[in-house]
Amino acid sequence: MHETLLAHPALAGHRRPKIHIVDHATSHAAAAFYCSGFSSAAIVTADGQGDGIATTIARGAGTTITNLASLGITESLGFFYLALTNHLGFELGEEGKVMGLAARAHPAPAPPAFTLTGSGYRANIDIEDSGGDVATFRATVAAWRRWLESNFGPPVPVSYSMDWLRGRIRTTIELDDHHAKVAAAGQAELERVMLHLVRLAVEQTGERRLVLGGGVALNCTANGVIERSGLVDELYVFPASGDAGTGLGAALAVAAAHGERPAGMIDQAGLGPAFSDADIGDLLRQLDLSAVRSDDIATKVVHLLDAGKVVGWFQGRMEIGPRALGHRSILADPRRRVSHTRVNDIKGREQWRPLAPSLRATDGHRYVQTSGSAPFMLTASPVVDEMRAVIPAVVHTDGSCRPQFVTAERNAPFAALLDRFDATCGVPVVLNTSFNLAGEPIVCTPYDAVRTFFSSTMDALVIGSFVVSK
Ligand SMILES: [Fe+2]
Repeated sequence: MHETLLAHPALAGHRRPKIHIVDHATSHAAAAFYCSGFSSAAIVTADGQGDGIATTIARGAGTTITNLASLGITESLGFFYLALTNHLGFELGEEGKVMGLAARAHPAPAPPAFTLTGSGYRANIDIEDSGGDVATFRATVAAWRRWLESNFGPPVPVSYSMDWLRGRIRTTIELDDHHAKVAAAGQAELERVMLHLVRLAVEQTGERRLVLGGGVALNCTANGVIERSGLVDELYVFPASGDAGTGLGAALAVAAAHGERPAGMIDQAGLGPAFSDADIGDLLRQLDLSAVRSDDIATKVVHLLDAGKVVGWFQGRMEIGPRALGHRSILADPRRRVSHTRVNDIKGREQWRPLAPSLRATDGHRYVQTSGSAPFMLTASPVVDEMRAVIPAVVHTDGSCRPQFVTAERNAPFAALLDRFDATCGVPVVLNTSFNLAGEPIVCTPYDAVRTFFSSTMDALVIGSFVVSK
């Protein structure tokens, strides 16, 4: 692989750089452990697969990660969940929808998908020896789909239609209670295996702090179960724990090999590009858009939210990872149940999917039962009973939410907005979802934000110090 990279025409005439190869699972583990700030911790990674590995247990200490166990593609938890996702009519990348669906029902009865063992677990499927990672991936997903069909009946039928702008699009999937129960059964199996892995990791490392990496670590419901299990004292999940974080993880692994690592915990996700008011003002002028500039943007937004408006909020550096955390967000009033319906409509999301709250950190535990500091919306936790009626738009069917606790240190403009919302409306909470429409990535640039705003029925766009209305 070195030689292939070094022969690339882009490097012609340049000094040949030194290339380090970091395997996929180590990249996940390194992103999770070195960003946690923990001096030592148990590490569990789980994803589809990379370099033939799907699940690992490891220990991190200082600038060293020691692998303790690895499981291959046929045991992949990510591919089990992908097959479940396909069975329910969704595609790769829509696993989060299945997680949301699972919270709506009790699990359908089924035999265990996995057998837990003293050293790990094993998948209860027969996979023919296929040779090669891609063939094994396909055989594994196909075996799980057969398993799902034999236990839960036929998969959800999916049809497609042609859209003049987007080409081939999937028609709405009709899901009923049975499908929610199937989702819940798969989710319960994932949680059972993840808890077992955490138990093993704690036993094998003697650590009471845990970091999770790999795409499965984006399963907020499983993370919440782990957090509440009592197996560990502290849990850290890196915000880009999917493959988007492996580049950073690989760089951190090489830095660690040279004795360096981040000084403390990475507890805010604003690591991407930022744009100045001058840049934003130039763009708005070029596009001939009327915008109001304000030195007190928080007050303007609070008035809009209090009036039931849905606001695009674009401030500072873009977030790393799939969650919007007050840098590229769509915001609404959590006190109005209709905010949930309206925001899901605006984004083209299914109405059964939950929306999450961002809360002032000092009030977080008044609203949400969690022992964590919830910096990244990666752990689902119960909403305090008497608060469920106060913020109904951000409480899921099962009474849970996926909170972000906001501090001025992590995100000053967003914290100021929550302060002002509390002062005016009596609630230090806003509904916060990612600034994108269905099937599109989160906006990065001011131009992306303007284009998305005018492609939707959002009411206002607050971008830097400017308020753009329709
Ligand atoms: Fe991965």
